[in-house]
Amino acid sequence: MTDTSTATTAVIIVAAGSGTRLGRPEPKAFVRVGRRTILEHALETVFSLTEPAQVIVVAPSAMLEDARVLAEGVADAAVGFLSVVTGGDTRQQSVAAGLAHLLPSVETVLVHDAARALTPVALIESVIAGVRATGGGVIPGLPVADTIKQTDWMGQVEQTLDRSALVSVQTPQGFPREHLLAAYAAATEDRTDDAAVFSAAGHTVTVVDGDDRAFKITTPWDLRRAEALVHESTPRVASQRIGTGIDVHAFDLGRPLWLGGVYWPDEPGLAGHSDGDAVCHAICDALLAAAGLGDIGSRFGTADSRFVEAHGDVFIQETLELVHGAGFSVGNVAVQVVSNRPKIAPRRVELEAVLTELVGAPVSVSATTTDGLGFTGRGEGVTALATALLLS
Ligand code: CTP
Ligand code: MG
Repeated sequence: MTDTSTATTAVIIVAAGSGTRLGRPEPKAFVRVGRRTILEHALETVFSLTEPAQVIVVAPSAMLEDARVLAEGVADAAVGFLSVVTGGDTRQQSVAAGLAHLLPSVETVLVHDAARALTPVALIESVIAGVRATGGGVIPGLPVADTIKQTDWMGQVEQTLDRSALVSVQTPQGFPREHLLAAYAAATEDRTDDAAVFSAAGHTVTVVDGDDRAFKITTPWDLRRAEALVHESTPRVASQRIGTGIDVHAFDLGRPLWLGGVYWPDEPGLAGHSDGDAVCHAICDALLAAAGLGDIGSRFGTADSRFVEAHGDVFIQETLELVHGAGFSVGNVAVQVVSNRPKIAPRRVELEAVLTELVGAPVSVSATTTDGLGFTGRGEGVTALATALLLS
């Protein structure tokens, strides 16, 4: 069992709001940004902190079990550090509900909006460090870009405020535990952030540099922006395609054996228009099939004089040109020889090296017999089966 008794930091993630301005049927923390909910994104960052922390999720009562399932999924092995509790009607009440579950070891408390789902972990770490350094409250803030006017109730401008003295405030907001608990216990008014509750109790609050990515997802536009940012930072998964190919050639005692792109002295050859290299032909078919480019028969017909007596490497090179031309690269190829002879094992390493060089991607070669059954069992010919993976 994880020993959570040593965590000196707690992060309360408030996620109990309804998200009225976002206008979705589900509470805001349960809305997806990309593949994960807003709550999961926020938790993902908190659980990537270097130092272990108690994590308290404050969720709407109707969604408590859903929140627990999501949060436990993110916490995984660190689930012992996690509590999921019910929030209140206002943000302040939700924070108070979280504060009631602090572990005795906790000295620094951070309060963080789940709605700031894409907050970088560095910002959380700088707030923790700030609280430890100052012993007071620490909040992230950004300079105000717009000119700010103060108006009266009629909307008439009373004055222009000095923008250079203003900051727009974000979360996480960090505080020393005892002072925050006392400030919350003494709070008489409902305030929009924790620093206001803390200041009202007479404590100092310092602003550290905020981060643009810590914006609060409030409106549909914010959600759209978050989607774009998540999409941008997700590595593109290459699309993959597989194909299979099979080829059979009968033995022809009068010919030399070429198989897998190499010459086999003292072995019966294979019949065919080309050199009968079933391994190379099966690889070509697998590559063509994966690319959706047909098959070797339709691509390199027997009428084409380039392929008379041609060795396997010629077919593979021509095939690769088509495959690359269609925008694919080869991931790997596996090929299996089904035959009594030649014995593949003594030359497997050499075969794999030659084919890997030819294909420009790993080619593995295996072999089997058919226990005396069928045409391969009777020693009438060779079958080769290939599987190819293409990437685009
Ligand atoms: N919050 C909370 N409990 C409440 C209200 C808000 O835990 N009673 C949380 C929200 O879940 C959010 C954060 O406080 O993570 C900031 O609040 P806000 O962005 O206003 O979220 P909502 O209140 O859900 O949105 P809205 O005001 O549009 O309804
Ligand atoms: Mg709100």
